[in-house]
Amino acid sequence: MYFIGVDLGTSSVKLILMDESGTIVNSVSKEYPLFFPKTGWSEQNPSDWWEGTVTGIKELVAGIDASAVKGISFGGQMHGLVVLDENDNVLRPAILWNDGRTAKECEYLNKTIGRDKVSQYTGNMAFTGFTAPKLLWMKENEPELFNKIEKIMLPKDYVAYMLSGVHCTDVSDASGMLLFDVKNKTWSQEMCDICGVKVSQLAKIFESYDVVGNIKPEVAAELGLSNDVKIIAGAGDNAAGAVGTGTIENGLCSVSLGTSGTVLISTDDYAVDPNNTMHTFAHANGKYHFLGCMLSAASSNKWWMDDIIGTKDYAAEQKNIKELGKNSVFYLPYLMGERTPHNNPNARGAFIGLSLDTTREDMTQAVMEGVAFGLRDSIEIARNLGVKIDRIRAIGGGAKSPLWCRILANVMNVKVDKINCEEGPGYGAAILAAVGCGVYPDVKSATDALISVVDTIDQDEETVAAYEKRYQVFKSLYPALISGFDKIVECE
Ligand code: XUL
Repeated sequence: MYFIGVDLGTSSVKLILMDESGTIVNSVSKEYPLFFPKTGWSEQNPSDWWEGTVTGIKELVAGIDASAVKGISFGGQMHGLVVLDENDNVLRPAILWNDGRTAKECEYLNKTIGRDKVSQYTGNMAFTGFTAPKLLWMKENEPELFNKIEKIMLPKDYVAYMLSGVHCTDVSDASGMLLFDVKNKTWSQEMCDICGVKVSQLAKIFESYDVVGNIKPEVAAELGLSNDVKIIAGAGDNAAGAVGTGTIENGLCSVSLGTSGTVLISTDDYAVDPNNTMHTFAHANGKYHFLGCMLSAASSNKWWMDDIIGTKDYAAEQKNIKELGKNSVFYLPYLMGERTPHNNPNARGAFIGLSLDTTREDMTQAVMEGVAFGLRDSIEIARNLGVKIDRIRAIGGGAKSPLWCRILANVMNVKVDKINCEEGPGYGAAILAAVGCGVYPDVKSATDALISVVDTIDQDEETVAAYEKRYQVFKSLYPALISGFDKIVECE
């Protein structure tokens, strides 16, 4: 038996073929473009996701008995707005999780409607990347298209719809729409009324491990799969990644260094940060989690390496970085504005502390440290909520760098556990497919059987102390720059 995990990311779709013992037998990745029509805007074409998934699945199963594929599930970039008309045509490019165009709509939701009310309805406040403000933006700026909307979807749910014909979503991804009552796991009528949408335009809700239906026969034929392949709802990429790292038990913490940087804490019970800085989302195991999200994590490093220095050899650039905690250069990682903790789409990236003896290595190190400091902001919020965090599980492209993991350990004063499989959301999605197909009775049994810690990176006292001082400097820089950021945006 085989299961396919589809990790629908921002830079590519990564597909994993897992057998019933949890072994990854093949993986394929297909890149697609990301469009920035204006500074701070971010869009993708759903047809690119679908094309990448179809070609990817064909390659993935090329060398195996494809009739043994039993289930497909997903981990998907969250919050993106996908809108379809009555003939199932995509009405406009998807507006993504890191798009900052909805400052005005968020202000309306958080101030005019009121943060307390929105939080009471959904467990969260409005952030520019969330889905509901994007609907308000469409209503105001693209009324003709808005009036044609028949179905509202999230990115991975578009792929699930194309595969199964079922307009479905799962509780973890629905949580990031700001249209979902996270506590009671149902659509919020109040939020639908506020946004001018009907519940009938929204998807049917499933737990992440539920079967939503079978693959459509014509799609099965095209992919060379059997008609009885089950489509399992899946999860937002962070919840799926947490399944993939076994971050399921109460209080466990995983940190993802992907395009976004996230801190996820699994909780057995529903709880809300009184300031709404951390998100409260449903988890893929039927429970809940807290999430802090920075918008430019590994993407800060990718931007610095690919676009500015002009290299693809990240390891070579990191090789000469030896002394941690001694850098005078600071980097603010706010290339696309920032979500946690600042909720400010006008924030921008910055290097500070440069001098004539600053080296290329100092700046590379500053980028990695700036991202770690930004993630520490989320860790501190969770600590202030009473969560004890003394170890994390790190995933995402950035976590493949031993240096970056060492920086995380020392900046956060935690142990970084490396687990046996680093595939994160894709592996989590394949596990959800196996649970949905009945190989495991529940998510916890599956992760207990499949996930183990294989190595741990320890912090050391002296470096922790050095970084503590620098973290306090980092924290002082953003408030000093806010009005400058606003003025820069006024000039754009
Ligand atoms: C989470 C978030 C990001 C995206 C990236 O709230 O916005 O992690 O899911 O894929």
